[in-house]
Amino acid sequence: DGVAVGTAVAAPAGAGGTSGDPLHDDARYREVAGQQFSSVTPENQGKWAVIHPEPDRYDFAAMDAVVEQAEANGQRVRGHTLLWHRSNPPWLTDALTSGQVPDAELQQILHDHVTTVVGRYAGRVQEWDVVNEVLADDGSWRGDNPWIQALGPGVVRDALRWAHEADPAARLYLNDYGVERAGRKSDAYLELVRDLQAEGVPVHGFGVQGHLSVESGFPDGLADNLRRFTDLGLDVAITELDVRLPVGDGTHASGADLEKQADYYRQAFSACLEVEGCTSVTVWGVGDAWSWVPRNYPEHGAALLLDEHLEPKPAFRAVRDVL
Ligand code: XIL
Repeated sequence: DGVAVGTAVAAPAGAGGTSGDPLHDDARYREVAGQQFSSVTPENQGKWAVIHPEPDRYDFAAMDAVVEQAEANGQRVRGHTLLWHRSNPPWLTDALTSGQVPDAELQQILHDHVTTVVGRYAGRVQEWDVVNEVLADDGSWRGDNPWIQALGPGVVRDALRWAHEADPAARLYLNDYGVERAGRKSDAYLELVRDLQAEGVPVHGFGVQGHLSVESGFPDGLADNLRRFTDLGLDVAITELDVRLPVGDGTHASGADLEKQADYYRQAFSACLEVEGCTSVTVWGVGDAWSWVPRNYPEHGAALLLDEHLEPKPAFRAVRDVL
């Protein structure tokens, strides 16, 4: 029982990630990722562009490495992700958007992918983010998801059903950002879960990403919102937690911000700890040197529990105190 504390393991260069492959090249990184956390998520290694770069070619090397390392350390693995509007290889985007490929063939592509990837890791990946970021902020289906554009929302059901067939023991998640609070987007997920359940579609978990900023306030009502989903019988998890800080054009955060960040982390972990059915909190990176934040949010960074040198920050101590 209890809450698993997870981390996202950075991808090697060429896999949408940082330079180098820290899991392979950096003994200290490997040790911290392996010893300080009880669950890992491949940050990019399981995404289509990496694992299925060409129609008839899968490349499992990077994902295999993450799973093998996790097994060696007795860690759980969260698979990520099977149906997303981003990180798709050009061949797939072309097939989905050209209007030239018949629906049945597109469905076959998804079926092959889900069956092959989930099947390969059956019994070794305990949770899968099957469906990632399919709803817009207003709760409608995302207009820029090429799967939904081509095939309609039924693909969500297909992906879940096929994943379940490939590994009946895996816990299958819907995952998104901007769903920490009750509101249009999380309300719509609640509706979607009810619909899926009514139709007998396998869905077992709801993942709240948790990409937070000290400038936006901590999402109030997080625990209550998580409970709305566990009340439906789902597991919930915080799947990609980070708390970004303003750092100007450098990497240095103020002491006051680091304390505020520690408080946000404390609150996020506390919310999961107080909700029965909240299974894990995953931090989106091992340390600040590998975080996606500086690459995606200009003049922001320092978002994780460990700093650029993998040394603990106030947030690390705050989390350790609530666990
Ligand atoms: C991000 C990775 O951290 C980056 O390295 C990559 O370039 C883009 O994707 N929501 C998700 C994650 O579900 O997969 C994203 O990860 C962050 C936002």
